[in-house]
Amino acid sequence: MDHEKAARRHAELCSILHRHSYLYYALDQPEISDSQYDRLINELSQLEKDYPDLTSSDSPTQRVGALPLDKFPPYRHTVPMLSLDNARNEDELYEFDLRIKKEGGRLDEIEYVCEVKLDGLAVELIYDKGMLVNGATRGDGIVGEQIIENLRTISSIPLRLSGNYPQLLEVRGEVYIDKESFQKWNRELEESGSPTFANPRNAAAGSLRQLDSRITAKRPLTIFCYGLGAMAGQLPDNHFSTLQALRDFGLRVNLAETKLVRGPAEVIACYHDLIVRREELPYEIDGMVVKVNDLALQRDLGEKSRSPRWAIAFKFPPRQAITSVVDIQLQVGRTGAITPVAILAPVEVSGVMVSRASLHNWDEIARLDVRIGDQVVVERAGDVIPDVVQVLVEKRNGSEVCVPLPDSCPECGSPVSKLAGEVIPRCQGLACPAQLKEALIHFASRNAMDIEGLGERYVEQLLNLGLVSNIADLYKLTQADLFRFERMGEKLAENLLTAIAQSKTRPLPRLLFGLGIRHVGVHLAKVLAQQFGSLPALEGASLDELCAIHEVGPQVAQSVVNFFAAPRNREILEQLLAAGVSPQTEAKRSGGPLAGKIFVFTGAMSRFGRKEAQERVERHGGRASGSVSKKTDYVIAGDEAGSKLEKARELGVTVLSEEEFTELLKKLEDGDDTSDTASNGTGTGGQFSLFD
Ligand code: IVH
Repeated sequence: MDHEKAARRHAELCSILHRHSYLYYALDQPEISDSQYDRLINELSQLEKDYPDLTSSDSPTQRVGALPLDKFPPYRHTVPMLSLDNARNEDELYEFDLRIKKEGGRLDEIEYVCEVKLDGLAVELIYDKGMLVNGATRGDGIVGEQIIENLRTISSIPLRLSGNYPQLLEVRGEVYIDKESFQKWNRELEESGSPTFANPRNAAAGSLRQLDSRITAKRPLTIFCYGLGAMAGQLPDNHFSTLQALRDFGLRVNLAETKLVRGPAEVIACYHDLIVRREELPYEIDGMVVKVNDLALQRDLGEKSRSPRWAIAFKFPPRQAITSVVDIQLQVGRTGAITPVAILAPVEVSGVMVSRASLHNWDEIARLDVRIGDQVVVERAGDVIPDVVQVLVEKRNGSEVCVPLPDSCPECGSPVSKLAGEVIPRCQGLACPAQLKEALIHFASRNAMDIEGLGERYVEQLLNLGLVSNIADLYKLTQADLFRFERMGEKLAENLLTAIAQSKTRPLPRLLFGLGIRHVGVHLAKVLAQQFGSLPALEGASLDELCAIHEVGPQVAQSVVNFFAAPRNREILEQLLAAGVSPQTEAKRSGGPLAGKIFVFTGAMSRFGRKEAQERVERHGGRASGSVSKKTDYVIAGDEAGSKLEKARELGVTVLSEEEFTELLKKLEDGDDTSDTASNGTGTGGQFSLFD
């Protein structure tokens, strides 16, 4: 390609990509898929590699970060970045409205714009003739830090504006991390043993203040723009239309949560509506910002030293409240774990009445030193059940009662033991009714034996009537037994008995999970089933054999050995088998549903690296190869797949797209029936005709 042609294609690609990132980020209405976008970006990168002089600062490829800095240079804001006064309740909001009417000389109701108050980090972006030329943090409002390299890495910040933008535009907004990305990222940090962040705000601030912008580039940061600094050009005369104009320039504006209202009563209605929806929003907010819509009125009102007179932050009610601990009750779970729960004098916390709080365990009780009769601070953040976060020791009168670690089970009186290194005491009673109830509910639950209809209500009746004393007894129930239930008709009884009977042939991992072996969750149940293939094989496994399995640690191994060593458990397993429970067995790992199948990967994959894809195939018994031949079973074609794909087509080898391959892995790894039928060699293997 000659230089002129390359330059034309470069300009064309830049403008196509700018348009699509505008559709994606500013409008949330993408027209092309992520992989189509990536393909265009790859073409642009290649062009810039071949013709380096074509690379410009606003090229969509320039978001990967630059060389690390020693420190951030100071940045003096042209117009100070002010802060906001707070209104803590409705009265203060009415006072704000009255002041505006008085000082602004208005008699009519004032028009306000209500916006969410995002909890992130305030920044300013400077666009000169539509190009992003600088950017800074708020700092003390007068001087901030210049962090343009970092801001450039945020995909939702346009590197150039579109439409009819002013010559100079200083845009202000909040950089933040949404709740989901924050949780995902924190989980990853935890798994890699790195320190985690306390909240999305700290995470956003920490990421944005990285001297190495290549690190910032990897963080899930985004922005909502909500205002202006200096400006030279033509813009609307009210705030609401200004926000719409910013959106038209390609900036990300939260118009979905921006409401134009009239008068304080409508502001308050908007506020209550937002409180109700607060937890559902994908980002953290700590209040609502109320701004005068008319910009002429804003100018007339002016500002005080630190905050404008035309806006206010209407703060949310605290997520904390003070109440008293009426009782501390002990709950016994399925594994005998005894957990303390605080029963509270009912109190409203962030708009919801609460009367219980979790205390987690005795270490937590000791840490807080919480006693029956104490005044405590409870906090509700997201979850419905609040936590006790502090005891008001100064409020004590001496009548408070400590709750000691129990030495016998509150439900059955059996001895309780606490293993070294564990914080939770456990009831050792084999016939503890509380444990049995939870164990039965767990056994019948969706991810275990999936006995439809057998929930807490029926389990309680089974226990009250003395009809079951272990999980195996479920399979001995008759219609006559069920007729002893309250409100039980013929049809219901029949349905329940059918559901119980159908559960007899559930796959082995479900039975293993349903048994409630400590530390064996859904995933480990699959691993064990795959490794040992059958219940008798697992029963006979030694500690060493178990420890040798990748993913099985010594704690899990010991727990499995203990489970099968207990005579009572062996008895119940025998009864289960005698009652006709015969789980579908798994292919052993050396086999696996993909045993003998040869995979070739070609082209770029967006969801995983080549190595990971190969490992995943191997995990199911398949093999990866570098070249396509007649022996190849499957070619997985990523983006820009080349000659290998052609060869596969020539030889008639089955080709799967990355999506189809991901779907296949998902089916295999979810351990659903695909892998079982596949290993039996009888199934169709689902939509990919892998196992025909
Ligand atoms: S307007 C003069 N709008 O709240 C107007 N601020 O205490 C000042 N914030 O530093 C800002 N969401 O970090 C405005 N929709 C919003 C906001 C918002 C969050 C933050 C911003 C500012 C602080 C004000």
